[in-house]
Amino acid sequence: MSERVSLFNPIYYVNGKPHLGHAYTTVATDAVARYWRSRGKDVYFQVGTDEHGAKNAEKAEEAGQTPQEFVDEMSATFRLAWDRLSITNDTFWRTSSKEHKDRARAIFQQLYDGGFLYEDEYTGLYCTGCEKFITEKELDEEGNCPDHKKKPEELSEKNWFFKLSDFLPRVQALIESDELLVRPAHMKSEVLGLFKQGMDDFSVSRQRVTWGVPLPFAEDQVSYVWVEALFNYITGLGYGSNNDEAFTKYWPGVNVVGKDIIKFHAVYWPALLLALGIDPPRQVFAHGFFTVDGQKMSKTIGNVVDPNELVDRYGSDGARYLILSQFPFGQDGDVKAGQFDEQYNAALANDLGNLVHRVTSMAEKYLEGSVRADALVGDAILLPLVKELDAKIEDAFTAFRPDLALESVFALVERANALIEEREPWKLAKDEANRQALEALFADLLGGLQALAVFSYPFFPEASAKIADRIGLGLSEQGETSASAVFTVRTEEPLFPRIESE
Ligand code: MSP
Repeated sequence: MSERVSLFNPIYYVNGKPHLGHAYTTVATDAVARYWRSRGKDVYFQVGTDEHGAKNAEKAEEAGQTPQEFVDEMSATFRLAWDRLSITNDTFWRTSSKEHKDRARAIFQQLYDGGFLYEDEYTGLYCTGCEKFITEKELDEEGNCPDHKKKPEELSEKNWFFKLSDFLPRVQALIESDELLVRPAHMKSEVLGLFKQGMDDFSVSRQRVTWGVPLPFAEDQVSYVWVEALFNYITGLGYGSNNDEAFTKYWPGVNVVGKDIIKFHAVYWPALLLALGIDPPRQVFAHGFFTVDGQKMSKTIGNVVDPNELVDRYGSDGARYLILSQFPFGQDGDVKAGQFDEQYNAALANDLGNLVHRVTSMAEKYLEGSVRADALVGDAILLPLVKELDAKIEDAFTAFRPDLALESVFALVERANALIEEREPWKLAKDEANRQALEALFADLLGGLQALAVFSYPFFPEASAKIADRIGLGLSEQGETSASAVFTVRTEEPLFPRIESE
């Protein structure tokens, strides 16, 4: 692992408000960003919104607003949701900004000058919902787009095309050799399968759409929204402007996306970069898709989960927990929204919250709230486990598995709770002769809480700072605790108040 970690999220369409799908990718990436920052890495994390194209323009019209007014408002809802979920992005990048548009035009000019674009007539079926052409084969029985249940439009236009075919063999070789890591492994196989089927050059412009970035060499056409959206990863770093310091420092990095957009990220994007003479991403990690309580999230079914509502009910930490703990990152899965209350109460109010409460209140009651860290006498139980989990957590984050790292956090919680049950400090406290054993036990438990503050920082930024504070330690913005010879312990209100279901 190098000293730098650069993470890039998809830029989400602003045709609707942020939903759980968007939050899923972004919270998972944030946990990864926080973890590597806490391990002293120089982390860069970029998110943003995809604001051009027919899909956004149609919604603006429905709302009776200009496209710019509409995307300004909608983009702000994403920014706010990420703030409420404690997302630590360094950049929030918008494609309708002048900076992005200027830089995207410079990139188009570079592709044009390099001879990688050509003009051709195109006829095809276009689905605005997908913002892409689809083939007859992909249509369902009624001739609709299977994802959007709408008839695609037949489009016939003169478009500019990108010579994808010139780059396919190189991209394929990069993926095969893992120079461009496509993860998880099943996604790499899926992408390599695409090369076997063969892929056509794709059009990079639209004649009829007006809400977009005009091509510098053909001002009557705007960029195909997807192409300009991919450029965002480098325009956000200053590429195409006269200050590309951040670009030089942080590119290439890891593109973390959902599997729905893997082809754009693992094939088109590296090919465009090669044409520009830029290194492809180091890694494209494509996670799975989830259903909610067994069904695809959809407005019609009414099971679209709003991340803001999760924060209202469970707090920022609680929402992050519910988003990350559902199923392995990388696989498809089901989010049990019907069990959110139970899951929150069991893991956070009971297991984690109670542990902190029990340890701090007993340390206050039996040991006057002051325990020397070196009071341990030989048989520490939690400390060796902490070392083991520390390594496991590092492996999990290296493999982009925040959900697995989260399991290790709870392995510590579980062991610490069990240790309390085994040793029954309330019995030890009855006899002054046990003072040393009691101190040793609490040095172990409080050392465990110190580790817990650190381990939980990528997931629970608020609770981790509170845990550190309650045992007399500070937690830096990077998630490291200060060292102290003595734990000065305080009990306070529960970290995670129980939720009573209506
Ligand atoms: N604007 C494009 C991305 C351009 S990136 C250069 C786009 N936007 S989107 O708003 O449709 O977001 C798609 C992404 O949202 C997915 O790749 C994934 O990250 C996330 N998800 C949306 N629904 C999801 C699920 N049901 N499950 C998991 N992730 C989901 O595509």
